[in-house]
Amino acid sequence: MGKKIGITFDLRSYYLSQGYSEVETAEFDRESTIDGIAGALAELGYTPERIGAVTQLVPRLAAGERWELVFNIAEGMHGFGRESQVPAVLDAYRIPYTFSDPVVLGISLHKGWAKRVIRDLGLPTPDFAVVESPADIAAVRLPYPLFAKPIAEGTGKGITAASKLGGPAELESRCRELLERFRQPVLVERFLPGREYTVGIIGTGNEARAVGTMEVLLRREAEAGVYSYANKENSEELVDYRLAADAQARRAQDTALAVWRGLGCRDAGRVDLRDDEHGVPNVMELNPLAGLHPEHSDLPIICTLAGVSYRELIRRIVDSALLRARG
Ligand SMILES: Nc1ncnc2c1ncn2[C@@H]1O[C@H](COP(=O)(O)OP(=O)(O)OP(=O)(O)O)[C@@H](O)[C@H]1O
Ligand SMILES: [Mg+2]
Repeated sequence: MGKKIGITFDLRSYYLSQGYSEVETAEFDRESTIDGIAGALAELGYTPERIGAVTQLVPRLAAGERWELVFNIAEGMHGFGRESQVPAVLDAYRIPYTFSDPVVLGISLHKGWAKRVIRDLGLPTPDFAVVESPADIAAVRLPYPLFAKPIAEGTGKGITAASKLGGPAELESRCRELLERFRQPVLVERFLPGREYTVGIIGTGNEARAVGTMEVLLRREAEAGVYSYANKENSEELVDYRLAADAQARRAQDTALAVWRGLGCRDAGRVDLRDDEHGVPNVMELNPLAGLHPEHSDLPIICTLAGVSYRELIRRIVDSALLRARG
């Protein structure tokens, strides 16, 4: 029997059955993602064991169960530290796990904090303001057009064609709507009008490499101008993806790698960028817990386009994590 590898995750079906809505559970995993990871681990000679959410991990740890490694893709449900919960618990028990540590996951989930660090690294990210309540709206002094999004969500939640703001009236109504709906601060930043890329990265620190830079091309039928929730949910019909390797895409890739290394992200993930009005790729956000559905998630799609199979992706993630565990 190979090494026992636990898998932590948040199943969408589990939360839907608990009464949460489609949107509240949008970031969570489908059964087929867990099947894909477990299947790849078994093919690689490991013994996968499904654990589930942090609330399912804790009783098993308390009962004395241990794993040689935990493959962690749990995003958590509550609080800005939701993605940090499983890694923090595993650190307490000194159980090695895949992907980033609790601090990196917490900073990356909160796009405002992430942008402060990115800016401090001297890397391009749009100027921004954080709106915590309607009283903060009048203090936003940035040139239009602007873009508004919930500060700590993913999977395009809260992102539609109306996220682009043409003037103060739209800023006011959009911020109020997002504050009310998501019960968290709103990130308001300068609108990036140019090409959009998502860079897939495998590895840690100096060992990190970009596997590919994928350009996101919206079709005519897509919601215009943004890679929105609706465009992501129906990407098969609305979005074209292609690997881009021109000079501009390479520039995006270099910036993405610098962000990845600068923040201390580990094993594998993605960085999302868009060109500003001067043609400079700016970082929008980073995804140190990127989706891993074999056919539908961006990172596996990038790998497939770059000739890296899903099993090979999982192998590289596990090897990168095990290298750290031995160190
Ligand atoms: N400042 C901006 N200017 C223009 N478009 C933007 C800006 N910020 C975000 N977008 C658009 O909204 C999309 C989603 O934004 P972002 O990547 O921050 O959200 P997300 O929900 O965390 O994404 P993911 O699905 O990668 O987790 C981007 O892919 C881009 O199309
Ligand atoms: Mg994104």
